[in-house]
Amino acid sequence: MEDFGQKVDLTQRIREVLLNYPEGTTILKEMIQNADDAGASQVCFCVDRRRHAVDSLVSPPLAQWQGPALLAYNNAAFTEEDFQSISRIGDSKKRGQAWKTGRFGIGFNSVYHLSDLPSFVSGSHVVFFDPQCQFLPSISSLNPGKRIDFVTSTALENFPDQFSPYCAFGCDMRRPFGGTLFRFPLRSAEQAATSKLSKQSYTSTDMLELLRDLYHEIVQVMLFLKNVERVEFYEWSAGSSSPTLLYSCAVRLPTSEIRSHRQLFLRLSKGKDAAASEETKDVFRLELVTKAYTGADSGKESLSSFLISQAMGSSASRIGALATNAFKSYGLRLLPWASVAASILPGKEWRSKVARFASFRFL
Ligand SMILES: Nc1ncnc2c1ncn2[C@@H]1O[C@H](COP(=O)(O)OP(=O)(O)OP(=O)(O)O)[C@@H](O)[C@H]1O
Ligand SMILES: [Mg+2]
Repeated sequence: MEDFGQKVDLTQRIREVLLNYPEGTTILKEMIQNADDAGASQVCFCVDRRRHAVDSLVSPPLAQWQGPALLAYNNAAFTEEDFQSISRIGDSKKRGQAWKTGRFGIGFNSVYHLSDLPSFVSGSHVVFFDPQCQFLPSISSLNPGKRIDFVTSTALENFPDQFSPYCAFGCDMRRPFGGTLFRFPLRSAEQAATSKLSKQSYTSTDMLELLRDLYHEIVQVMLFLKNVERVEFYEWSAGSSSPTLLYSCAVRLPTSEIRSHRQLFLRLSKGKDAAASEETKDVFRLELVTKAYTGADSGKESLSSFLISQAMGSSASRIGALATNAFKSYGLRLLPWASVAASILPGKEWRSKVARFASFRFL
């Protein structure tokens, strides 16, 4: 008897994912969405321009990934189920949890636009993915990545150059980390020439442009989130001991009342199979403060105010009946949920404004 099963080529699968996920700010928005689903209240992006030393690495081929990187931090840690979920493409553990936005188990993989060797630290583990099986030691296509318990293995003492790039945003690589810090070392032009994942290369300057683009869209991104209250953008210059804050966006006065409104969908959908028996409507005011710390806009703070209206259809409504049937017939958890936001411009009657942004969730 010989092994003879159907297999998926991982690099081919990732190339397909990249075709369906556009480059650009979408990649960063996927990260914000995952942090929001994990319950994080804070997200930070940082363009790390430093070149880290290459003398004490886990294996020599990793030296080429010690250059510029995108760091993405959030203050929620992975559960063991999350580790399992991220290690499978297209098999999200969130599917049975209607209150989470993630559904397909694919969004994270859009980071392969930027990097061939994504990695992250969460809790007491550091994880490296190497789909091409080229850079990590004793790697095989059956297990194209590594997870190391850095607390028990004293990784930082043994391989200081490998793990010092993760000492950022409160992570010290000695004690378990209560948040998550991704490091995506950017694919250089030389690496792009031979990469089986993407022919696109990125520089630190490209990344800074990407952060600036996201900053210009961040207010719309924040409108329909459940947990994230603050997003910060940093640059870490070569030779600096800490990163420099470039821009921020935060919910103004995140009171328990605002939090409760933002988490309404989460509460309504938890433990329910389909629509609520009664229609639920909710309106609240959300104010977001954006601030630039450098450049021509330095010190400029601006306030954006919105009226957010959200509703869940009743199980008796037509749309609710459709959702109930979908659950009965196909086991699909559909929820008739919609939310819209109207921008309130200063000095004007809000009624006169049209809804500018909308998000419909018929999950
Ligand atoms: N704090 C966190 N920050 C970022 N990702 C996290 C965090 N905690 C857990 N995760 C995990 O990251 C993974 C995100 O994967 P991915 O975006 O590919 O799938 P998804 O969100 O389930 O589905 P979708 O493709 O619809 O986004 C999930 O497995 C999730 O559990
Ligand atoms: Mg996701």
